[in-house]
Amino acid sequence: MGSQLPLILRILYSSVPFLILVFIWCNEIYEVFRVAVFVLPFYQDSYDFIVVGGGSAGAAVASRLSENKLFSVLLIEAGPKAPYISDVPLIVATLTDTPLDWSYRTEPQKECCNGLENNVSHWTSGRVLGGGSVLNYMLYVRGNKLDYDNWEKLGNKGWSYDNILAFFKKAENQRGRYMSDDAFHGTDGPLSVEDRRHSSSLAKAFIEAGKELGYEEVDVNGGNQTGFTTPQVTMKDGQRFSSARAYLYDGKTRSNLFVLPKAFATKIITVKSNGKIKATGVEFNVFGMTRHIQARKEVIVSCGTVGSAKLLMLSGIGPKKHLQDLKIDIVKDLQVGHNLQDHIGNGITLLHKDNAVAPPHPLNFMAHLDFLFNGKGPYTSNNVEGMSFTASKYSENPNWPDIQIHFFGLSLTADYGIVIKPSIGISDEVSCLL
Ligand SMILES: *[C@@H]1O[C@H](CO)[C@@H](O)[C@H](O)[C@H]1NC(C)=O
Ligand SMILES: *[C@@H]1O[C@H](CO)[C@@H](O)[C@H](O)[C@H]1NC(C)=O
Repeated sequence: MGSQLPLILRILYSSVPFLILVFIWCNEIYEVFRVAVFVLPFYQDSYDFIVVGGGSAGAAVASRLSENKLFSVLLIEAGPKAPYISDVPLIVATLTDTPLDWSYRTEPQKECCNGLENNVSHWTSGRVLGGGSVLNYMLYVRGNKLDYDNWEKLGNKGWSYDNILAFFKKAENQRGRYMSDDAFHGTDGPLSVEDRRHSSSLAKAFIEAGKELGYEEVDVNGGNQTGFTTPQVTMKDGQRFSSARAYLYDGKTRSNLFVLPKAFATKIITVKSNGKIKATGVEFNVFGMTRHIQARKEVIVSCGTVGSAKLLMLSGIGPKKHLQDLKIDIVKDLQVGHNLQDHIGNGITLLHKDNAVAPPHPLNFMAHLDFLFNGKGPYTSNNVEGMSFTASKYSENPNWPDIQIHFFGLSLTADYGIVIKPSIGISDEVSCLL
């Protein structure tokens, strides 16, 4: 597709991800300076709680623990504080494979990912305060009621949906169309949730298409998830609202919560007494130096799906055979990292010439100003204009959907293959067909 675009426009479009990368690198350098001078000299030798990983979960846990003034809490994060540029929703795909991303790659797959370069799937994962909520597409989706109920049934006490719902509401600051639905939504929480601010006419058509098939327009976080919707997003005034913004910044700094970015945890320190294993501290690396901090009460591991399992294994908690192969002293033989599951994402592109949506031209200054001053316009868009949950014939229950559709108002190559293609890792061969 690139060849159809005049060279000058191609250079202009290509320079956008490059400029964003420059911003991100400047932020990394600034953060090194800030942490070295203003943060690192002031941490203590021990805290009541150490939270390892300041992502979507870790930021919330650390903040909630520090609500009790009697506790001192340390939050360790390998990445920096997010740069402002990452709060512009439209640029979401350019954030992958930057220093804000761990850029995990799967092994080449045989049964799937055949449209991706070398059959390898990109697993984007946040390496930044706010974690995945800085890199994701900001869709506010809590998950299905029956999944929570099932987890409780499997022995996880307290995880039933009726129990969890109170915490969703406590977390939420609903500012969109469900503001008065207090059965399912909260308005006093720290996490801002809004309606999307920029849609094409295709969003409406998507809902209509659902109705033609017999599905209703639903609140996917309400009573019944099955149906069609125009998604809600974790944004505030049209800007990305990460869990770091919700729980760590914006006036939520507390003297008993110490946030240490650019510090990479390498081990949980444990002691054995009376046959019980107790976590007593964390070893981490900061600017090439190894440091130790003691935890008087607990260590909380919230380093994401891959990171948490890896840290536990580095600490000797994991499958015996694997740890022996790597010559790691075994603290506890546990099936850490097992039962890993991922969902398949399948892209279908349809062209509709009257309603074609393209990203705004980089020199469209009205769009820039509309974003900066009004929190509106194409830059507020995460491009996911519609979403649906439906139950296929393989699902046990019509209210327990097994298919989720993300309806994008532009094709995977609408940006001339400059950003989305490498971000997902789509192969040249498949990209030509889109
Ligand atoms: C990807 O997988 C397909 C199907 O298994 C195989 O034919 C192809 O050679 C693989 N390509 C690479 C680059 O591994
Ligand atoms: C939820 O929606 C599905 C599909 O539209 C329907 O079959 C089901 O009866 C609905 N459940 C409730 C509780 O409304």
